[in-house]
Amino acid sequence: MLAGRAGEMICLGIESTADDFSVGVVRSDGTIMSNVVDAFSSPDGGIHPREAARHHSEVAGLVLRRALDVAGVGMDEVDVIAFSQGPGMGPCLRTGATVARALASYFRKPLVGVNHCVAHVEIGRLVCELEDPLTLYVSGGNTLVTAYEGGRYRVFGETLDIPVGNCLDVFAREAGLRPGPGRPLGALVEELARGGRELVPLPYVVKGMDLSFSGLLTAALRLLRSGRYRLEDLCFSLQEVAFSMLAEVTERALAHTEKEELLLTGGVAANGRLRSMLAQVAEEHGARFAVVPKELALDNGAMIAWTGLLAYRHGLITPVEESYVRPRWRIDEAPVPWRSSG
Ligand code: ATP
Ligand code: FE2
Repeated sequence: MLAGRAGEMICLGIESTADDFSVGVVRSDGTIMSNVVDAFSSPDGGIHPREAARHHSEVAGLVLRRALDVAGVGMDEVDVIAFSQGPGMGPCLRTGATVARALASYFRKPLVGVNHCVAHVEIGRLVCELEDPLTLYVSGGNTLVTAYEGGRYRVFGETLDIPVGNCLDVFAREAGLRPGPGRPLGALVEELARGGRELVPLPYVVKGMDLSFSGLLTAALRLLRSGRYRLEDLCFSLQEVAFSMLAEVTERALAHTEKEELLLTGGVAANGRLRSMLAQVAEEHGARFAVVPKELALDNGAMIAWTGLLAYRHGLITPVEESYVRPRWRIDEAPVPWRSSG
């Protein structure tokens, strides 16, 4: 069977920055041939890099096999191997990088290290059919407002301490909520928030274009422990304050950059309240608003494969000796030559 088409290339992408191990297979015409994710879930919903890394090495073979099977290709038809090189948790990143290096060396394929945050933006541009968006990427590990300007993805706002998803998760865990399959902690906060009636005062901290969520979390936890408020009201207030902060920074970035598109992605993008606040921001600025579909907004191998293809086609290859992981690799340090050439 011929899975590739004349002139088309196929890339296999490996994602392992945090709790998910994922392999995706993507063709250069933008077809997502497969995107298989295996999530590590700790019983308490907490972050455990070493345990997650062990999970990744245990499932890597199976996930890889399934991704190739679903795509209907063999390794001989894969042209490029891409992997998430950073930012992320060291032990998790190293597991994915090791698998990628082994595949590239054994099958003699070019290797491409991809910036995880760039990949979130690029898969969003692909599936939402956007040209040049301002992006808000919000997850358990990241809080970032970014747009392409002057040859790079520039940072127009970011958290100075904890990511917004982590803020929601820690609060939820302390409130005794337990995550389940398909029910992440943030979604449980959202559910409870729907029953909120009272806006409890909580610290709203925006410094210039940057955000701080740790004071907000500490204050919310103090009120939780005081027992004076309904949990629904606290969830509601936490969301209102945290998301208003995000909306404010996003709005200013939109005004500053004059981008005509606004893209929302990451795990927290599933939140209906955040979506509606940002839809309003976009509307007020005459910008088109798009939310990345869930399976591609969460961490996934397809976004790494797609970005790996863009990079490879613009001459970027990562020699094995330079394929060390980069846990703190900022989005504005990543080369994106495909953006300048359209
Ligand atoms: P990374 O930072 O590398 O992207 P991650 O593992 O945190 O990684 P995601 O799976 O994209 O990535 O995001 C998980 C986050 O999304 C968690 O903080 C989770 O609570 C949050 N989340 C999921 N659904 C909702 C929701 N409906 N409302 C708010 N937050 C949500
Ligand atoms: Fe991510």
